Amino acid sequence: FRIAVFASGSGSNFQAIADAVNAGKLDVHIGLLVCDRPNAKVVERAKQLGIPSFVFRAKDYGSREQYEQEILQRLESLEIDLVVLAGYMRLITEVLVKPLYGRLINIHPSLLPAFPGLDAIQQALDYGVKVTGVTVHYVDGGMDTGPIIAQQTLAITPEDNEATLAASIHQIEHVLLPQVIAQIAAGELKINKDS
Ligand code: GRF
Repeated sequence: FRIAVFASGSGSNFQAIADAVNAGKLDVHIGLLVCDRPNAKVVERAKQLGIPSFVFRAKDYGSREQYEQEILQRLESLEIDLVVLAGYMRLITEVLVKPLYGRLINIHPSLLPAFPGLDAIQQALDYGVKVTGVTVHYVDGGMDTGPIIAQQTLAITPEDNEATLAASIHQIEHVLLPQVIAQIAAGELKINKDS
């Protein structure tokens, strides 16, 4: 079972997936990292791990559709079964969503549908919710929308700030995302196309 990970930043989730694979806890092959920021830490992580990467700059292409066509070709030639968006900071168009629907998942640091989009952790703090969490969902082309696969909750304490909450969220993500990937790879999850 071959996966690709898309990321734009630090890539701690990418690292967690790779660590789970290397520890023998996740039986998949990471065939490709896709990254839109050449200086992102995740690119360095892929190098260290010996995982091939496709790194691009959006401004080198005429449109989103053009770089997504190129990404799609690479996914197809590598026979990728599942695409995992883990901190990929770009909206995805029909070019990728259509052919990959049901094989394209995203992780988001809130209990969706609450707090979609950027700065979800700060949004939760600003709103004053007492419980937040992490969501893994199929991607349907909207901003952090699509059928939900898994969620885990986390209580917010009065002592929490952006940094403490982000650290707790990341800890959850690093366990939850490899778990969901394992379930999908094992064929234990089927997308409900009506949801
Ligand atoms: C994670 O919090 C993820 O939920 C969000 O972006 C963050 C990526 O973190 N979509 P990292 O790059 O994996 O460390």
